[in-house]
Amino acid sequence: MNILPPDFDEAHFLAEFWQKKPVLIRGKKPFVDPIGIPEIAGLACEEFIESRLVVSDPAREKWLVHNGPFTEEFLKALPHSHWSLLVQAVDQWHDDVRAMLKDFDFIPNWRIDDVMISLASDEGGVGPHFDYYDVFLVQGEGQKRWRLGGHVDSNTRILPDTELKLLKDFDTQEDWLVEPGDILYIPPNIAHYGTSIGNSVTYSIGFRTPSVVELLDDLSNDMLQGLHEEYRYTDKAPKRPTQAGKIDAQVGEDLLALLQEHIADTQRLTRTFGKYMTQPKYPYLLEHGSPLTVEQLLTALEGGLPLGRNPSSRFAFYELGQPNNDPAFELYVDGKAFACPVSMHPVLPALCDPFAPEIEWHQLAQNDNDCAALLVELYNQGSLWLIDQSDEDEEAE
Ligand code: SIN
Ligand code: CO
Repeated sequence: MNILPPDFDEAHFLAEFWQKKPVLIRGKKPFVDPIGIPEIAGLACEEFIESRLVVSDPAREKWLVHNGPFTEEFLKALPHSHWSLLVQAVDQWHDDVRAMLKDFDFIPNWRIDDVMISLASDEGGVGPHFDYYDVFLVQGEGQKRWRLGGHVDSNTRILPDTELKLLKDFDTQEDWLVEPGDILYIPPNIAHYGTSIGNSVTYSIGFRTPSVVELLDDLSNDMLQGLHEEYRYTDKAPKRPTQAGKIDAQVGEDLLALLQEHIADTQRLTRTFGKYMTQPKYPYLLEHGSPLTVEQLLTALEGGLPLGRNPSSRFAFYELGQPNNDPAFELYVDGKAFACPVSMHPVLPALCDPFAPEIEWHQLAQNDNDCAALLVELYNQGSLWLIDQSDEDEEAE
C-alpha cells in the first residue's frame, strides 16, 4: 500500500464506514506528494484541463468562483490567503497521481470518478457544503482543518448568490486537523468545511453515484429502441367507474405492472448502467489519429507497437450469465456496450484495470477476427492507443 496504513482493514471499512459515516484514517507516514505545487499550478493553466479558483471571504459569507484556464501571471499575483485552486481529473494527466488510486481497489474501479487536487493558501477552502458522492480527502503537504456537520440534503438551506451551493447553517459535530498522509473519508450528504492552515494540497478522490433521474433517462433512451407501438395500457379488469372522472387505484397497479414488465430486465439495466459508468468525464479527450483498418492494426501490433488504454478512457465488464453453458461477457467502454469475443475473456480484467500490465494483443488479434475487429473499434473511438515508444522517449528528453 502506498497511502493507506499497513493495518488498514478493508472489510471493516466497507462494513462500518463506506457510504455510512465519516472516518479519519491516519495514513502512512511520511507522505510524499506525487506532484509538486508548481506542476499543479501549471495544470490549471492548461486549456483542456478543468480548473476553478475559489476566493473566500467567510466573514461576509462570500465565496467567488473563477473558472480556468488561468495564466501564470494571474496565479502569481494571487494574495497570500483565502483562495483555493481546484484542478479536476489530474489522474488522467499524471501517472503518479493516478497511482494513488491503486490503494482503493477494494471499491469497484468503475465507481471512481477522478482525483481532484486543491491547492489552497492560508484560510483557503471551498466553504461549507455537501456532495452527493463519497470522497476520500487525502492530505498532501501542509495542514487543513476539517469541520464535519450532520446529514444534509437538497432541502437544507443554502447561501444565496453563490455558485457553490454553500450551506447557510453549519453545525460542527467533529473538528479535525489533518496532516500530510491523513485520509478523511466522507460519505454522501455529510456537511463538510475545510480550511487550509498555511499553504496546503488536498487530493480528493471522488466517486460516481448516478441519480435515479439519470438512470431512468438513459434507460428510457435505451429502451425506446426496442419498444413497439403496440405495447399499450389495457383495461385488465374492466368495471363500471365508481364515479365519473375517477381513476381507480387498480389503474395505478396495472400501470406499475405494465412498466415493470418492460423494465424488469437485469441485463438491460446493467447495460445502461455499464454505459453510464464508463462515460468519459471529458469526451473531447478521446481524440485520436486517423482511423485504422483491421489490417493496419494487425501490422502495427506485429511491428511490436503496444496497444494501451487512453488514460481518459473508462472500461468495465459484466457477465451475462451462461447462455449455452459458456460464460458470456459484455464490455463497456467510454459509454458504449460491446459483445466480448470469447478469446478476450481471459484478458478482460486486465483490460479493465489501469494498473494491470500491458496485454499482449498481437497473438489474440491475429487468431481471432472478432477480437481484432473490436480492438480496431476501440482504437478508432480513441479508447485504445498505439503507444509509439520513440514518441515517449522524445517527450522525456
Ligand atoms: C477541498 O479539497 O478543499 C474540497 C474537496 C471537497 O470538499 O470535496
Ligand atoms: Co466536498
